[in-house]
Order: sequence, then C-alpha cells, then structure tokens
Amino acid sequence: MNIGILGLGTVGGGVVNVLNKNQNEIARRSGASIQVTHAAVRDISQDRICPTDNLELTQDPFAVVNNTDIAIVLELMGGTGLAKELVEAALKNGKHVITANKALIATHGNELLALAKDNNVHLLFEAAVAGGIPILKSLEQGLSANKIEMLAGIINGTGNFILTEMRDKGRDFADVLKEAQALGYAEADPTFDVEGIDAAHKLAILASIAFGCELQFDKVSTEGISKIEGEDVVFATELGYSIKHLGIAKQTDGKIQMRVHPTLIPKTRLLANVDGVMNAVLVKGNAVGPTLYYGAGAGDEATASAVIADLVDIIKGTVSNDILGWQSFEAMPHQAVDDIESIFYLRLLASDKPGVLADITSILAEHNISVEAVIQKQIDAQNNAHIAIITNSVKTGEMNAAVDKIQKNDFIQETVKIIHVETLD
Ligand code: NAP
Ligand code: HSE
Repeated sequence: MNIGILGLGTVGGGVVNVLNKNQNEIARRSGASIQVTHAAVRDISQDRICPTDNLELTQDPFAVVNNTDIAIVLELMGGTGLAKELVEAALKNGKHVITANKALIATHGNELLALAKDNNVHLLFEAAVAGGIPILKSLEQGLSANKIEMLAGIINGTGNFILTEMRDKGRDFADVLKEAQALGYAEADPTFDVEGIDAAHKLAILASIAFGCELQFDKVSTEGISKIEGEDVVFATELGYSIKHLGIAKQTDGKIQMRVHPTLIPKTRLLANVDGVMNAVLVKGNAVGPTLYYGAGAGDEATASAVIADLVDIIKGTVSNDILGWQSFEAMPHQAVDDIESIFYLRLLASDKPGVLADITSILAEHNISVEAVIQKQIDAQNNAHIAIITNSVKTGEMNAAVDKIQKNDFIQETVKIIHVETLD
C-alpha cells in the first residue's frame, strides 16, 4: 500500500516516525505493509524531524496527488487554498485522503465529502480535532446508540498551554506563545489559536458529527483568550473557578448552539484540571450520560497517532464515518445568541461612592438577574473598587442589555468584563 504525504513538518514528520517506530504493531492491526513512498515539501533542503532516506521528496505536491502508484494521500500541509486544490485532485484521481487540516474540513468539508462520495473514496480527518484523542471515532462508533445532548471541550492545545503557564508560573502571554510555536503546537498563523478560530473549526466538525448536521463553521460564535487578564484569573480562583477556553455545542428543541469562549468552570470539575497542551472533551449522550475523553491536543507523534488510525481503518476497510449517510444531513436551525442561557461572571471597576454596589445590583434586578456571589477588593490608589459578580442563569440578550445600562453610569471606570460560567452539571 503506497502512501504519499503532502507536508513533512510537525505532523508529517511525526507520521513517518510513528510508522517506523510501530511498524510491526501497525502491520498486525492493518494486515498490510505500509510504505510512505513520496513526500512533498516546500523546501527540499531543510532538515527534517524524520528520516527521509526511503522517501522520494518533491517540491511539486501535484506530482504526489497525480502519481498512479499512490493509493492514499495524507494532506498534512495546512491552509485552505493549495491544500483544497490538492485534496480535490487526489479525490478525483480516486485516492483516499486523510487530513489533519481542521480549517479545510470546517470551511470546505461539505463539498469535499460530496466529492469523495462521487469518486467512491474516503476523506477522513480524525487528527483534525483534539490531536491524539480519538474523539470522532468515539462519537461515530462508541456513542452511536445515543442522541448527543451536549459536548464541551478544551480543544486547542496552544491556548490551554498559554493559560496554564500564565496561571501557574505567572509567565508573559507572548513568551509562552513563542514556546508553543517552538514545540510545534501552534498553527502557522497563531492568531487562529489565540483568537479561538482553530477551536471554532474543531467545534464545527464535532457538532456536525455529534448532531448529524452539515458543517456550519460560520454559525460558531467565537471569542479567543487574548482578553483574559491576570485579575480575572485571581477573581476566578477566589470564587472557586478555573478559567478555560471551551468549545460548547448543545442541541435543544431541534436547535443547536455552537460557541467558543473563555469560561469559568468550578475547580472541582475534571475539565477544570486539564492543563498544558492536554485537551479533553465532555460528551453527554441521552443513554450513556456524561463521558470524558482526554489526551494530548497537539504535537507530532500524538497527532500522528490519529492520522495513522484513519490509515488503518481505510486499509482494513473499517471506516467508521458513514460518509454516504453524512451527505444526506442538512443544516440545522440555530439558537439566536441572545436566547442562549448562561451564568455570567462580571468584573467591574467602580468609583468608591456610597450606593454603587446597590445601583449595580438594582440594574441587574430590573433585568431579572440575581447575584449568586460577589467579591469586592480593597479600594485602589485611584479610589476605585474592583468588583466581581457571579449571576444566576439568564438569557445572553438580557445580560448584555443590563451591562449596557451599568456601563453608562459615571461611576464605572472601565469596560465591564463579561465571561460565561458553565457548571457542566
Ligand atoms: P508544519 O510543521 O508547518 O508543516 C507543514 C508542512 O507542509 C511542511 O513540511 C512544509 O514544507 C509543507 N508545505 C507547506 N506549504 C507547502 C507547499 N506549498 N508545497 C509543498 N509543501 C508545503 O505544520 P504542522 O504543524 O505539521 O500542521 C500541518 C497540518 O496539521 C495543519 O493543517 C495543522 O492545522 C494540522 N494539525 C497540526 C497539529 C500540530 O500539533 N502541529 C495537530 C493537529 C492538526 P517545509 O517543511 O519545506 O516548509
Ligand atoms: N494548533 C492546534 C492546537 C494544533 O494548538 O490545538 C492541534 O490541532
């Protein structure tokens, strides 16, 4: 079985190394001897993390997808331009394609899966979501008896690594990001990690498989980690929470919601204790109840593990995702953001005047929002009070309207910070 790889960087190099290291195991499980024969790279003279002696290297990726000796193409380059053209060409040439490229699947997956179906080949992408965790296979196979009610996950390793290092070691955001890039965790454009776009790509894929609907990346409400400040981390800790960047998808009354944002989680929850580059996804099925999947969310060999699992499935003929079934799925209606119910954390900087806290809580009360917990820090040198509030569960539209009203008061000294809280009950 000849394999061609597009891209021999972190993931591509990891795939070659794991295929070498676990040759016997993989041959036993797949029942075939797998040969990576060709690899396309941008710069042929560059040093690689894997041996290249048995590989024909080329700077022309079309030479790989048009090679008649190659049966399966691994797209491990990234991007949505050239990568899309190459995947299309490979599928049209009757080759199975495996990709780790969540951006490509989230934005062009519907048409690429249709193309795979038309050409009677597979397009698989286990490595696109949560690195080494076999979460797509778990949803498709292990949980196939369930209606999935919700899932919530830490699905970007770089973001979780940054938040953990900032919290535990007080390190600077930019410094930790540089380390994540050096370790091969970050995307080619790291704003995808930091601004939540990568997590949104992954959430769109998860929701599509969990709920059986089309990929609808444009419907994911997305917020990154860049606005989380040290003071939020301190307040959250005192209130009994950890701040994690979560992707959440829920299905209620025939409508789905997909959102990616920083979230306060009670410290006692397992997800609150998933640190560093590790990812975890909580999935609630209506038969099995809550289940949790944990593992490395990025990195060369962890991601290679998921790519090779797809390879073994194709070779054995045990592909789990029913691509033909997928194509009959339709777009599902979405819950309007204003209607999404959530508990909220508010952080306010207010002048230290009598009655300020009462004014804030009475505006909240006008919107039927009650205060579940409040902390007021000592007055600072500018005579301002630092206040954190946890509310009850309310509609997002109602919360935003109340915060707009609070913001208009002269005693408010900076933009009120709002972060979602999830109890994950
Ligand atoms: P990477 O280390 O930057 O590797 C990209 C590879 O693609 C490099 O070998 C590069 O060649 C090659 N390449 C880029 N443009 C090319 C072109 N025009 N022609 C030929 N080769 C080209 O990236 P990566 O981290 O492995 O990520 C690859 C994909 O996997 C991305 O879609 C990413 O989102 C996804 N992914 C990554 C991880 C992770 O932990 N890194 C985890 C899950 C999924 P040169 O080496 O010569 O520059
Ligand atoms: N940049 C991604 C992350 C790679 O940090 O999670 C794994 O998909």
